[in-house]
Parts: sequence; structure tokens; C-alpha cells
Amino acid sequence: MSPNRRDFLITTAAAFSAARVLGANDRVQVGFIGYGLIGAQHVHDFKNLPDVDLAAISDVYEPRLREGQAACGPRCQAYADFRRLLDRPDIQAVVVSTPDHWHALLTIMACAAGKDVYVEKPLTLFVREGRWMISAAKRYQRVVQVGTQQRSGRHYADAVQMLQDGYIGKIHTVRMGSFRNVMPGFGTPPDADPPPAMNYDLWLGPAPKRLYNSNRSLYHFRWFWDYSGGQMTNLGAHEIDVIHWAMKSGAPHAVASAGGRFALTDNGETPDTQDSLFEYSGFTTLWSHREASRGRGQGGGLEFFGTKGSMTLDRSGFQVFPDPEVPPQNQIPEFQGHPVGGPQRVQTTQIPPWCEPVKRSVYNDLLRSHARNFIDCVKSRRQPASSLEEEHQVAIACHLANISLRLGRKVRWDAEREEIVGDSEASAMLVRPYRKPWDQVLAGSQL
Ligand SMILES: NC(=O)c1ccc[n+]([C@@H]2O[C@H](COP(=O)([O-])OP(=O)(O)OC[C@H]3O[C@@H](n4cnc5c(N)ncnc54)[C@H](O)[C@@H]3O)[C@@H](O)[C@H]2O)c1
Repeated sequence: MSPNRRDFLITTAAAFSAARVLGANDRVQVGFIGYGLIGAQHVHDFKNLPDVDLAAISDVYEPRLREGQAACGPRCQAYADFRRLLDRPDIQAVVVSTPDHWHALLTIMACAAGKDVYVEKPLTLFVREGRWMISAAKRYQRVVQVGTQQRSGRHYADAVQMLQDGYIGKIHTVRMGSFRNVMPGFGTPPDADPPPAMNYDLWLGPAPKRLYNSNRSLYHFRWFWDYSGGQMTNLGAHEIDVIHWAMKSGAPHAVASAGGRFALTDNGETPDTQDSLFEYSGFTTLWSHREASRGRGQGGGLEFFGTKGSMTLDRSGFQVFPDPEVPPQNQIPEFQGHPVGGPQRVQTTQIPPWCEPVKRSVYNDLLRSHARNFIDCVKSRRQPASSLEEEHQVAIACHLANISLRLGRKVRWDAEREEIVGDSEASAMLVRPYRKPWDQVLAGSQL
């Protein structure tokens, strides 16, 4: 199952094999790589697009491969090895729904094979992968959509417009987070032989060789640094994306993060409790997640704070909470008695709000709209809703937070040079080695 010589040689001939310009009425042949939690959802959504053929599917776990093939329909070809799917010149686009440690390499290889790519978030496992992906997409002139589906949510677009128009005034802070209680965690299964129906070596791909452990594999890979960045990258990527969109910003210039796996008693590694403070020009944002406490059942999603009020925003809708226009001196607390020189209160008959309340519910299917947008861009060659460049900036923010958490100190970011400032230990964490022989595939791509 090692890559062969053909896999190392990423040629322009392959790149343009599927580059025929499609018309609006053409059907797009799509291949799916990874049929897990979100892969199955993508198959469902793409199946509902009238101009898409679900031509092929690949998964390293045989039962899922067969289930996915059945879901795609009788004309779908199943491949235990994704490279054989990429070999097919008739496939124009692929949807990558594997764990995070495969996102970059699969995108690079698919671009080189002439496929357009819809790749799930978080875009990368480590910072440097993002620039490699951008280079590959540019070199092979590929359309790449990233799975931050809020970008295709119409209520998100409306909310972002209101924020950019100043509806809640000047925005100086954004809070975001995720709160739930999964105590005591997902257990501590022993290391074991991988299931015979799984090609575990191909599941690991560029990640370090480890004994198989069921918690390190399907779905639960998220809680291990070798494959993911925990909730900071898993859920944080979605929220930071909306902040960058609304605030028209790139990556933060400094990040400080703290937390740990304080409460869960399973064998996971990433923090169950984490707070990350991101510094941007003119505003700050705070990410908090709790895996072992749901709190008041609030605090998830986004909360923008402006000088006229605040806005909450999540996948179910958005709401504006106006602040009352109370004279500042009337907000000084009152206690017993009125000593000389105390605050002079302004007499008010009415306290108007700074703006009017607004409440909107979700009004389109984000995932299906994002899939639609991708296929439209495959045909038009336009930039899709979630562009590689913007999602690279989002991934940078998430990874910087985890670097700060793991080193126990604040990191500063030079966006121009894409370097951490004055901290060689932190800088070393911007890149990780790929395991052999996948390092040769990367080297062969000469990005
Ligand atoms: N956008 C969203 O709302 C959303 C929701 C869930 C997951 N995700 C993202 O999607 C990705 C997958 O998450 P999941 O929960 O579906 O994981 P999962 O473990 O349920 O599914 C991943 C599938 O990929 C397969 N796979 C692994 N390596 C492969 C390879 N080299 N070739 C082919 N198949 C391979 C696995 O066998 C598995 O079936 C993650 O990066 C996650 O962050 C995004």
C-alpha cells in the first residue's frame, strides 16, 4: 500500500486531465473520500443536487466503503485506496471528509490530479500546510472549497452585513465557545490490532506510526494531537471564520491560551477546558470550551459586542440585544446617602435603546447551499464561498492558540512573513514531519 513512483510524480499532464470547462447544464462527476459522520452527510446533500453524479467513493474501512457505495447508488465505484479514485480522468471534483491529518496532502494530490476539491475544516493540522495547499490550487488552477458552511448561510450573510453596516456600533469584542458535558469521557480502550476490515496504515497516512487504539481512530481522532487540535480547531474554526468574515480581518497578531484535560478521565489528549484570547487590530476575541460542564446552556456560538448593543449568532439564527442609552453618570452605583461631590444624575423620563431589537431564524440549509456553491464554482471557475486563503488565516488562528496552550505563553504573529515573532520553540511547531513514504509525495509536489 505504499505510494508508487507514479504517485510521486505530480505532472501537469495529470493536472489538466479533468480541466475541460463545464457548461451550466453539464453534469459534474464527484468522488467522495471518507465516509464517516460528515462524509455521509455530504453524500446525502450532493445526491440532492440535480447536476451531480456520485461517481466514486473511497474509505479505508471496508464496512463504511460498502455503506457509502450503497448510499451513492448503483453507478458509484468503490475504492479501498483513494489514489485509484484520483487516477480516474472522468472525475472532476472530490469531497474530502477524512480526519484533519489527511486534509492537506489529499487536497494537494487531488489538485495535482486535476480535480477540484471540497475539503472539510479544519483546513490543516499545522500552519505550514495551508500555504502548500494554496500553492497547489494555484499551480493546477483548481477550485477549492473549505467546509466552513456558515459562509453559505443566508442568515449569516445578513448578520455579517448588519455588523459591517454598524448596526450594533463599533465592535470591540467577540466571544465564542462551546459548552457541553461528556463526563467521564470516551473510556480508555486498550491498544489492539486494527480491525481486519480497516487499512490502518492508510488511515494513519502521514501521521506518526502508533499502535491501533479505537479511540485514536473513527470519530475520536479529534482528541489526539497527532490527528487534530481538539475543540479549538474542530469547532473554533467555524466561529473564527465568521469573525474574520464580519470583521474583514486576517489572522490575529497575538494569541494567549490556557487550559488542559482537567476533568475527563479517558485516554484523550486535547484540552477539555480551554480559553484562548486573540488580539486583532481594534478588537479582541475570546474562545472558551468546556467538555465537562454545560453551564447555563448558553455561551455557545458567537456573541459580538458593539457600542450600541450585542448580537448572538449561531446556526439557528441571530438576535440583536440593544443596549439602553443610559447617561454614563447615571450608571455609577448608588449606595446609602449622597456625599457632597457625588455623581450628578441626569433626570430622564425615557431611556431609549441605542438600536432596535432584531431576531431572525435560519432560512436556508447551510450544508446543501455550500455544496451547491461548490458545484457552481466548479462550472464557473469562480472563487467559492470559503476560499483557501481565508480559511488558511482561520486555521492559523486556531493553531496559534494551541501552540500557546502547549507552551504556556503568548505567541505573536507576523502575518506578512507568516512567522511567530521571537520564539524559536513556538516557530518549530508551525510544521510537522510527514511519515514515510508520504513525505516523498509532499517533496515530489515541490510546493
Ligand atoms: N463542517 C462540519 O460541520 C463538520 C462536521 C463533522 C466533521 N467535520 C470534519 O470532517 C472530518 C471528518 O470527521 P468525521 O467526524 O466525519 O470523522 P469520521 O472518523 O467519522 O470519518 C472519517 C472517515 O474517513 C476515513 N478515512 C481516513 N483516512 C482515509 C483515507 N486516507 N482515504 C479514505 N478514507 C479515509 C475513515 O475511515 C472514516 O470513515 C474532520 O476533519 C472533521 O473536523 C466537519
